[in-house]
This record gives sequence, C-alpha cells and structure tokens, in this order.
Amino acid sequence: MKQIFDGNRPLAEASALPSSTYLSSEYYDKELKQVFGKEWHWACRTEQINQPGQWITTQIGNESIVVSRDSEGILRAFSNVCRHRAAKVCRVSQGQSTRLRCQYHGWTYDLAGHLKTAPEFQGVSHFNCEQHSLPSFQVEELGPWLFVCLASEAPNFLAQWKPFLEQSESFQIDQMKFVKRVEYPLNCNWKIFVDNYLDGGYHINTLHPDLAGLIPYSDYRSEIFEKSSLQTAPLKSNLQKESAKVRKGTAQYWWLYPNLMINLYEGVMDLNLVIPEGPNNCRVVFDFYFKDISDLNQPQIEQSLKIAHQIQMEDQGICEEVQEGLQSAFYTSGRFSVLREQTAYHFHQLLAREAGLFE
Ligand code: FES
Ligand SMILES: [Fe+2]
Repeated sequence: MKQIFDGNRPLAEASALPSSTYLSSEYYDKELKQVFGKEWHWACRTEQINQPGQWITTQIGNESIVVSRDSEGILRAFSNVCRHRAAKVCRVSQGQSTRLRCQYHGWTYDLAGHLKTAPEFQGVSHFNCEQHSLPSFQVEELGPWLFVCLASEAPNFLAQWKPFLEQSESFQIDQMKFVKRVEYPLNCNWKIFVDNYLDGGYHINTLHPDLAGLIPYSDYRSEIFEKSSLQTAPLKSNLQKESAKVRKGTAQYWWLYPNLMINLYEGVMDLNLVIPEGPNNCRVVFDFYFKDISDLNQPQIEQSLKIAHQIQMEDQGICEEVQEGLQSAFYTSGRFSVLREQTAYHFHQLLAREAGLFE
C-alpha cells in the first residue's frame, strides 16, 4: 500500500491530494461510501414540504432519497428504492399525496415509508408489511433548510453548524426569500469545484475580471472550524462596476463539509451544492435568495443573477480545464499558497481522514 497524501504536515510543507483521487473510480466509490454515506447533506428548502403529505426526492451520492412531511406533520427521510424489485417509488422531484405508489407492481407506502399494501402477495411465506418499510434516515432542520444523514450514527449536526449560526446572524437569513434555482452540469470531479471555492480568493483577480478590485486582499480573511470554513471579504463600495452594485457589505463565503457552500452579501444569499455524478462529472446547484423581492428591486435581482452566471461560466471553464490537466502523466500534485489556500488544505485533510490516505 502506498501513502498518497500526508495530512499531518503544516501547510507550508503540504501538497494537495494527488490527481489519482480526482480520476479513479475506486477513490470515488470510497468517497460516496465513507464521506457522502456518513455526513449530513443539504436536502431541500423546508417550505417545499410545509404541508402534511408533501414530499421531494433528492440524491445523496448514489442513493435516491425521499424527504416528506407525513400525515402527522412529522419530517421523514427514507430510501426511494422499492423493497420489492428496487424500482424508484417516487419518480418525480416533488409531490403531495397520502400514499406513495411504486409504478412497477403497485406496492404502496405511507408518507413515513411504511409498506401498506403489496398486491397479490397472499401465500408468500414469512412476509409481513412491517418488515418491508423503506429504510429511514435522520432529518434535521436549520433555518430555511432540511438536511439528511444516511448513517445510523450521524455526526453532531449542530456542532458543525455552530460557527455559521454564531457568525452569520447579521445577514438575517430567515428573512431571505428563495427566488430561483439554476443548475450547471460540469465535466469535472466534484472536488475541483470545492477546491476552486476554497482557494482564499487566490484566483479572483486573475480569473474574474468583473470582480477584480472588488475585494481588497489585505482584508481578506479565512477561518477554519472543525467541519466548515469561512472566508470573509469586505467589498469595496466605491468601485464603478456592476458587481459592486449588487455585492455589498462584508461578504461571507461559508463552506460546510463536504459539498455545500453558502455565500452571504447584504440582502443576498446564494447556496451552492456540488453533487458528485461520477469521477469525472458533477452538477452544481445554485439557489438564489434575496431579502427584497419587491418590483423595485427586480433590476438588482436580475443583475445579481447575471453576474453570478458570468462568474460561474468562468469557474466552470477553469474547473473543466483542471480535470483535463489532472489526467496528464506529468502532473501528480501541487503545493499550497500559505497566504491563501489554508481552507483548501483543510478540505483535503478532512477528506483524506474519511476516504483514506492510501492506495
Ligand atoms: S418494484 Fe416496486 S412494486 Fe415491484
Ligand atoms: Fe471563482
């Protein structure tokens, strides 16, 4: 066995995770099982399932999940894989019903995932519906969102969110209103998008012309917590750029291990979720929230979405280029900037601790 990463080195002596961890399907499978199978994951907005009987489907790694509010109003999460022959119980992204009926042979489940009927199963030995409930998972609510953990022993949810809750209070996220979701399929490993987010602003002046000068780097700060990190940037308000009109105040860029990012500005919040879809592919979901959604603020909202799309195009281009570069026989791993990239190293350390350091 060969050690592929040393997460015990100080940042000044460290190297990043090697390219094999961005390319190999073995490492990818380990991540799904040992990281995505164990950690808390963002599932949906609470308002999507406010009413009894409402449900949504989502994907965590390879697992299709249903999150519902049952007839008693209790939040539930369970596997979306039918206990009969493994078809999907719910085939669309959301709905409202009293029962969930598998389209294949018609088994029906209640909104808590309990099997209620299995047609034409008379005479089947040792079969009872109670033993064929859909496996259930833990659900937690935080602010406007719901989170699910697939592991029976889930990590401490509030411990992970404590720094965020303490430091983001002034942004009043409970007053932000969801406006729009935009999804981007990317031809790169999910970690490349996270690395790009966690480089402490290192790429902003070079890759994003519209943001150049907006963030004074002497005031850029990174803070590392156990399973999250925060990058803080006071934005220049006197800059004659479109970006400065819609990105105001001191920005907070939060990363929650492993794949959730929350960007906070004055009156604006966007949440980025990176969903792995194989070693060479991922999907990035952007949910945009604004405090003021009045007609008067529509031009600012439009402008803000336009800028976010432009930035995403630039980030996406470089992420896909990096995926190609990592396939080079002449590149294995790179070093970190001590001034900028401590948050990226922290991500690699957490990941290596769970997904393994050896191959
Ligand atoms: S697979 Fe669902 S009823 Fe057969
Ligand atoms: Fe970027």
